[in-house]
Amino acid sequence: MPTIQREFFSHTVSVAPDSPEGRFIETIRRFDEFGQTSAEAVLPGETRAPVPILTNEFWTSKQRAGHPLHEVSYRACFKPQLPRFFIERLTAPGDLVYDPFMGRGTTLIEAALLNRAAAGCDISPLGAILTAPRLAPPTVEAIEQRLGEIDWTAAEPEDLWEDLHAFYHPETLRALGALRRHLRTQSAPDPVDAWIRMVATNRLSGHSPGFFSVYSLPPNQAVSIDRQRKINAKRDQTPPPRDVPAIILKKSRQLLKTVSAEDRRRLHAAAAGARLLTRSCDDTPEIKSGSVQLVVTSPPFLGIVDYKYDNWLRCWFNNIDAKQVPVWQFNRPKQWDEAMSRVFTELRRVLRPGGWVAFEVGEVLKGTVNLEEIVVPLAEAAGFVPVLVMVNQQEFTKTANCWGVNNNKGGTNTNRIAVLRKPEGRAKRR
Ligand SMILES: C[S@@+](CC[C@H](N)C(=O)[O-])C[C@H]1O[C@@H](n2cnc3c(N)ncnc32)[C@H](O)[C@@H]1O
Repeated sequence: MPTIQREFFSHTVSVAPDSPEGRFIETIRRFDEFGQTSAEAVLPGETRAPVPILTNEFWTSKQRAGHPLHEVSYRACFKPQLPRFFIERLTAPGDLVYDPFMGRGTTLIEAALLNRAAAGCDISPLGAILTAPRLAPPTVEAIEQRLGEIDWTAAEPEDLWEDLHAFYHPETLRALGALRRHLRTQSAPDPVDAWIRMVATNRLSGHSPGFFSVYSLPPNQAVSIDRQRKINAKRDQTPPPRDVPAIILKKSRQLLKTVSAEDRRRLHAAAAGARLLTRSCDDTPEIKSGSVQLVVTSPPFLGIVDYKYDNWLRCWFNNIDAKQVPVWQFNRPKQWDEAMSRVFTELRRVLRPGGWVAFEVGEVLKGTVNLEEIVVPLAEAAGFVPVLVMVNQQEFTKTANCWGVNNNKGGTNTNRIAVLRKPEGRAKRR
């Protein structure tokens, strides 16, 4: 039986067994869909932890494939099975599901596919650029037609950057410049152009001919120009020409291959009412108080992922000054605490009474800091009922690298999710 290393909460939270919280705990305790029941962690020498900490394989890619529409890479994205688990159990069709740190929009797309309303926020404009087009997907025919209409040679000097020849053949860079120009000259890109921009953003650099660049690191982690030059020298490679529109069309077909008429209907219905904010999620006046049924989210962890640096090439392509995007990157737990307390206060405002939060946190500093130990007291201080901590354990193979694990070895993947609920009664705090 796993033990937790130290007491992270000064008292035990008790919930009535016949309350929604109690029933959810029981569901998770008894969960055995993949052959084993949940293991419960205890404090050394005690009978139970401050909140139940339940470990199991709750969702898995082996038995349950995610929808191909999710398959755009993003640093530290979660798998669609994670939000699906909570959306299916804690919301009904039509309810609003929100992700304040939306990234590539996994929670929103999954909510829409499950016939829920969706809202999201990310401080980086890349969040909306990657998410909105997949909530309103055009047809392959419309994409193909538009790709045929773009003048792929019409780059202007401001749309080219010579140093990028480290990544791209001159003809490829010209085509990318022409696409930048095409997108720049639209006052508001229509859904087809927005789709093309989203796919191109995802094909900028990578390790196969399915990307515009010569061999490079995976697409969610662009290396610097100097580093790319070194990779080229070491591998004795020069960027080959790539067919930019053909790559965009091929990836579009992959993303859209299983989008059914019903998926399309649900996605478009969610898109029509969706709020996608580009701002810091601790202050979101656009999201109505008491409107959200469920938040499923994963905040930036302590010093783990450098979103600013990893996204520099995507920012260039989209005319975003990466240095001006004030992405939260904290190295000290205290800074993280302060920011997350503000986020919890805001989440409490936007949630309906009785609404839920599934807050995914990483194990950082080689397991010496379990962020949920910080999250549970912070959430209680903001007026939430801490319900339980779920630890999802999944064996992964070398192809599973969506979690920021890309060491090409097998191993165990762990996600830790603090589940919280806003009390049903009158709000005590603002
Ligand atoms: C762990 S990622 C979320 C990934 C997401 N769950 C997905 O599946 O793509 C954290 C995100 O938080 C965003 N972020 C950082 N600071 C933020 C802030 N103050 N407000 C909103 N988003 C922020 C980052 O840009 C990044 O996209």
